Amino acid sequence: MVSNLLFITSTLKYNTYTDRQFLTEAKNLGLNVLALNPNAFSYSVNRSNNFIIWNKDKEFHVPLDSIVYRKSISKAGVGLEDILKRYGATGFEENHTKKKIKGMEKFSDYVAYAEDNVKIPNSYLLTNKNQTTYAIDYFDGKFPLIVKKISGTHGIGIFVAESKRALLPIVEYLLNEGEQSPIIIQEFIEASEGKDIRIIVLDGKVVSAVLRDNTGKDFRSNIYQGASPKLIELTPEQEKIAINAAKAVGLEFAGVDVLYANEGYAITEVNSPCDFSFVEQTTKVPVTKMLIEYLINKASNK
Ligand SMILES: Nc1ncnc2c1ncn2[C@@H]1O[C@H](COP(=O)(O)OP(=O)(O)O)[C@@H](O)[C@H]1O
Ligand SMILES: [Mg+2]
Repeated sequence: MVSNLLFITSTLKYNTYTDRQFLTEAKNLGLNVLALNPNAFSYSVNRSNNFIIWNKDKEFHVPLDSIVYRKSISKAGVGLEDILKRYGATGFEENHTKKKIKGMEKFSDYVAYAEDNVKIPNSYLLTNKNQTTYAIDYFDGKFPLIVKKISGTHGIGIFVAESKRALLPIVEYLLNEGEQSPIIIQEFIEASEGKDIRIIVLDGKVVSAVLRDNTGKDFRSNIYQGASPKLIELTPEQEKIAINAAKAVGLEFAGVDVLYANEGYAITEVNSPCDFSFVEQTTKVPVTKMLIEYLINKASNK
């Protein structure tokens, strides 16, 4: 019987809504919670296959027949979850696309949705500024266009270019930034300006959803950009696109972002792990509890 939850979070005081929910719900379910901030620990492995987590100079043994939930998106967090799973902990499936297509992050997900006939905004991966005119031609010279970094979060690094004149310097700047990653040029789905639907999918089923409304304030509907979460009744079509999108990238648990397109819907992103705190607070559907119960069940059936 599983008796521990290893909770990988990025906070130091474990005091955000999500942290508190995981601590409370796990306790209510009779589990011990070990909250780990991956960047507050170090790790070692030796010839005898002893994996140890270190807290300063003290050995810290984690029970490995546990369930693990990762909220942190740091490199150390992702790595720690992987290691814990290798040693026997039970967590959620990773995005399979990342295993199949390397180095293209968001773009590889678009390929996966397209492969499974999940509607997306038409997308162009640009690696070189000299190719920008081809991207413009690809969109038949139509503006506005969305420009986005290949990895990013909270809507940071997403631009709308209203014209070629606006597009060129954005492209140049982004391509020169950081590790010179490619960027995505994308059709702007104007019908969804400032709003989208965040749908939480668990095990192929929709468990909860909210409308993220930032209309009149910003074209980006991220909560981080000031959007308000609102109650929404989903249509079967909206549920279907979310379920199919999560399936396309092989995720058991995901926050799917659905844009209103002129004819139907389009996926901007499937997030994992995803912030569902505002969904839980708005709808009162106990997502945290459902996640923990799902993982306990999965671990018991191993
Ligand atoms: N092609 C698009 N058309 C319209 N709006 C978009 C498009 N791409 C992104 N957005 C808006 O920008 C927000 C952030 O984009 P997204 O790709 O999800 O990046 P992030 O990972 O930073 O959340 C979306 O939630 C949406 O509101
Ligand atoms: Mg997003």
